[in-house]
Amino acid sequence: MGSDTRTVLVTGGCGFIGSHLVCSLVHRHPDWRIINLDNLDYCCSPRSLESVEDHHNYSLIRGDVCNLRLVSHIFDTEDIDVVFHLAAKTHVEESFVSPGSFQRVNVEGTRVVLRAARRAPRPPKRFIYVSTDEVYGDSLDQFPVIITRNNNVYGPRQYTEKVIPRFLSLLRADKKCTIHGTVPKSRHFLFVDDVIEAFLLVLEKGVAGEVYNIGNDFEIPIMQLARELVRMVKNIPESQLDDWLEFVPDRPQVDLRYPISSQKLQRLGWRAHVTWEEGIRQTVKWYEDNPGYWLEAGQNQGPISSTLDQ
Ligand SMILES: NC(=O)c1ccc[n+]([C@@H]2O[C@H](COP(=O)([O-])OP(=O)(O)OC[C@H]3O[C@@H](n4cnc5c(N)ncnc54)[C@H](O)[C@@H]3O)[C@@H](O)[C@H]2O)c1
Repeated sequence: MGSDTRTVLVTGGCGFIGSHLVCSLVHRHPDWRIINLDNLDYCCSPRSLESVEDHHNYSLIRGDVCNLRLVSHIFDTEDIDVVFHLAAKTHVEESFVSPGSFQRVNVEGTRVVLRAARRAPRPPKRFIYVSTDEVYGDSLDQFPVIITRNNNVYGPRQYTEKVIPRFLSLLRADKKCTIHGTVPKSRHFLFVDDVIEAFLLVLEKGVAGEVYNIGNDFEIPIMQLARELVRMVKNIPESQLDDWLEFVPDRPQVDLRYPISSQKLQRLGWRAHVTWEEGIRQTVKWYEDNPGYWLEAGQNQGPISSTLDQ
C-alpha cells in the first residue's frame, strides 16, 4: 500500500494487543484516522488507551462486531481504507465452559465484519485478520484479506487470565503459580511491540490472500517460566523456587507446544527485536508499577448487550 492518508478501523482495539496497536497507529500517523470498535468486555481497561483518548485522530465506538447494522453503518459512513480485525473471545479456559460465546464473536463476528467490509460503497484496500484460525470459509479470493497467526504474546497491560500476568498476580498475592497438569508443556512468547511491528509491516508489504505467521525461536517450558517469574519477584534462594509452584488439573484439551515458521514474514524484513530477557523485565516491572490496574478496570467495565443483527 502507498503511504497516503488513511482511515483505519481496529476491532478489539481496547484489548491487550489491540490497544498497543491503536496507540502505535495514533502516535505514528497523526494524519490517519483511527477508529476503534470494541464492546469493552471484562478484559479491557479504559486506562489502556488514555495516552490517545484526547487525540484528534482517534475515536472509540462502543459496539459489538456481531451487530451487522452497526458495522455496516461504520463502513457506509467512514470510508475505511484498512481493517485490523482483533475483536475476539480469547480465554481458552472459558471456551470450554461457554463455547457458544466464542462461536458467536470469533466466527459470526468475523463473518459480519467481512460481510460489511465487502459490501461497503468503497471496500477497504486491506483487511488484516489477526487470529489463530481460519474461520470464515473460502470466499475471500476477490477481497484483499491477509491473515496473521502469532505465537503467544506478552507485555504490559495484558489481562490477568493469561499465563504471565496470572503468575505475576498470584505471586503478588503470595499465592503459588498454578501449573496445569503434569505433562510438560512449552510456549513460544513474543513481546507485544514486535507483534505490532509485524502488523504494520504486513499492512505495507504483505500480499493480499497470504497467511503470515508471527513467531520466534524462543520457547520456554511453562514450569521454567514459572520459576523465572518466582526468581524475579521473590527474593528467595534457588532451592525454594519450587515452593511457589502448584500442580492443578489439566484443561480438557491441551496443546503441548506451538512451533511455527515465520520465514515468510522474515522475507518481508521482520525480525523480533526484543529479547526475552528485556521483554520479561519490562513486563514484570509494569505489573509491579501498576498493581491496581486490573482491579480498578473490573469495577468499571462490562460488555454492552448486543444482538446478532442481520
Ligand atoms: N494474546 C495472545 O497471546 C494471542 C496469540 C495469538 C493470537 N491472538 C489473537 O489476537 C487477537 C487479539 O488478542 P488479545 O490478546 O488482544 O485479546 P483480548 O482478549 O485482550 O482483546 C480482545 C478484544 O476484543 C473485544 N471484543 C470481544 N468481543 C467483542 C465483540 N463482540 N465486539 C467488539 N469487541 C469485542 C474485547 O473487548 C477486547 O478488547 C485475538 O484474535 C487473539 O485470538 C492473541
